[in-house]
Amino acid sequence: MAHLPIDALERRSAQCQAGFLLPSLKSGMSVLDCGCGPGSITFDLARHVAPGVVIGIDAEPAQIERAIQRAERPDNATFQTASVYDLPFETGRFGVVFAHALFQHLRDPSQAISEMHRVLAPGGIIALRSPDWGAIIIMPPTPALMSAFKMFIDVYYENGTPLAGRDGPSLLRSAGCQDVTFTATVEHENPANLGQFAAAKLIAPEQEEGAACLRAWAANPDALFAQMWGETVARRSE
Ligand SMILES: C[S@@+](CC[C@H](N)C(=O)[O-])C[C@H]1O[C@@H](n2cnc3c(N)ncnc32)[C@H](O)[C@@H]1O
Repeated sequence: MAHLPIDALERRSAQCQAGFLLPSLKSGMSVLDCGCGPGSITFDLARHVAPGVVIGIDAEPAQIERAIQRAERPDNATFQTASVYDLPFETGRFGVVFAHALFQHLRDPSQAISEMHRVLAPGGIIALRSPDWGAIIIMPPTPALMSAFKMFIDVYYENGTPLAGRDGPSLLRSAGCQDVTFTATVEHENPANLGQFAAAKLIAPEQEEGAACLRAWAANPDALFAQMWGETVARRSE
């Protein structure tokens, strides 16, 4: 589901991707990382809260298998296959519940938040970071390329939430959270990877021109891609 190769996901870190959450973490906290993928951010969170325990869950068994097998996994990071819509944990179990790059793939973000909120202890912290496909900079911004990107976003996120980056505060307020704080950061991505990935999603005959445009962009030395990521932290009411 990720638009990055797995080794790019494995280069992610809590310092770079969860810096907005780190000041809230303390030794001994219990953390749930929803949609953890191969676990790189989860490992870092575990180092921050040790000897507290971090559990990573992901709907794809292959991601969980990869996270478990990685040599650098700290002892206090464990993983299991589960959906964010149906978390196999008792109510109020965690001091912190986190999701990075998950919500853009969800058809029903409110249901996911309600389940994340359920497993959070009163006074606990909930944190989301998601990309926003309505806040992107693409160079060079030719009409053909912009329309090829729109086609890709419509296809790839047909069952997701491409504008998830801006939704965090309203989702968390609707779930009854307090002390909601929003920040935003910009990430850039390698057009060679993104262009090829996006082109490969456009397989219908009427999408052929869009796919060709994305492949040409991937090979263009002047190509640039940057995107806003929305970061929201809030607290469950006591
Ligand atoms: C883009 S990856 C992000 C992985 C990791 N959080 C990171 O940032 O490196 C999104 C992950 O969400 C998982 N996912 C998608 N839908 C899910 C669901 N309903 N419940 C749990 N995980 C899900 C996918 O399997 C995938 O591993």
